[in-house]
Amino acid sequence: MSPTLTSPTIRRVQQQLRERTKRERARTNRCLFHEANRLKRLPLYLFTILDELKAQATARGVNVIDLGMGNPDLPPPAHVVAELTKQVKKAENHRYSRKGGDVETKLVETIAQWYHRKFRVPLDPGREVLPLIGSKEGISHLSLAFLNHDDIALVPNPTYPVHFNGVVMAGGILYNLPINPENHYLPDLHAIPRSVLRQSKMLFISYPHNPTTAVADLKFFKEVVRWARQHRIMVVHDFAYSDFTFDGFRAPSVLEVEGAKEVAVEFHTLSKSYSLPGLRLGFGVGNQDILASLAKTKSYIDFGIFRAVQWAAIQALAGPQDYVHQAVATYHRRRDTFLQGLKRIGWDVPMPKATFYVWAKIPLKFSALTSLEFATLLVQEAGVVVSPGSGFGEYGEGFVRFALVEPEPRLREAVRRIARVLQMAD
Ligand SMILES: Cc1ncc(COP(=O)(O)O)c(C=O)c1O
Repeated sequence: MSPTLTSPTIRRVQQQLRERTKRERARTNRCLFHEANRLKRLPLYLFTILDELKAQATARGVNVIDLGMGNPDLPPPAHVVAELTKQVKKAENHRYSRKGGDVETKLVETIAQWYHRKFRVPLDPGREVLPLIGSKEGISHLSLAFLNHDDIALVPNPTYPVHFNGVVMAGGILYNLPINPENHYLPDLHAIPRSVLRQSKMLFISYPHNPTTAVADLKFFKEVVRWARQHRIMVVHDFAYSDFTFDGFRAPSVLEVEGAKEVAVEFHTLSKSYSLPGLRLGFGVGNQDILASLAKTKSYIDFGIFRAVQWAAIQALAGPQDYVHQAVATYHRRRDTFLQGLKRIGWDVPMPKATFYVWAKIPLKFSALTSLEFATLLVQEAGVVVSPGSGFGEYGEGFVRFALVEPEPRLREAVRRIARVLQMAD
């Protein structure tokens, strides 16, 4: 048996995790009203576990370095905050948001102009743009709009959990496409059995990719669009990290492919590029019929986006973009600092070309642990929060993800603390 598995610290971590699972089961059984089966089919949301572990460490007086959630720490652009503050004070902005209103019309036009500047793809603002209460909201509701109980959604695994959780919540059938270093984290569409293809309605992709940091080029998107048109499958591209590319790489939009609008929609967000995750503003672009069905679904569920938020979003997208370039440069420096640090302590991790994450294989001497056990060990012994790879799907097991959302001195400190944990098993 590996020395790591026999260490009392690790046995304690494993015991605590087993007890946690038992407690959660007891809680749901105790409740007078049983949760719907669709909720039972979902894994416990990863960040709920991480928050609990972090709270326990903080209560013990540990100064926790949180590299768990991709929650940008940079202050948002001052001119956007100023606009929000101004608009919040106006009474008319506190009324329900209605399609065709002043800010609603200006926002979709601004999005179309922003999109054209970045990707040279023209969009009809009235039909090919749909503002959302964050892209997560739109991505999950898209499954609800389209999946019947016998429809299959094809989802790369590991991936951002909303891609598969939305399918499960909608009651559709989830079909995993394993992605790994060998296939460059790109799904092999030709390996999907014919019987599965016949029942498939949607394919989710997302490049630059969370959590693996993988990127895709236009050639890959061309192949996806050709395949999707041939098999009449909707392509859903989550493009949350479009700006976060390094070393000369530019991330293409799937809509740059000719004919893509026949089958594809793409999701964007202000949460990452403009450090505005609390604002809750995202948008979908692309195929107008798909977006119309998503809008229809949403009309039964929400009342749109706070109008003051829409005015602020217009400032972010139409105003100067230096903020975005500076933010990307900051994450670039953090990436270099953190990766050099990990290398120095003997943890060799591939250099990410994009996103603000680092996707790291668990060091060999800890490989007998699950990624959740290893992440728990890092919180408890180093006060460093990371995301276990299994939280992104079973094919993420064996990895952890670091989100570089702390300043460089804290990243250096995180490396020093991690080094102490890695030495535990020597
Ligand atoms: C790939 C990906 N898509 C979507 C989101 C959610 O973004 P939003 O804040 O717009 O809901 C995230 C957030 O981490 C993400 O990583």
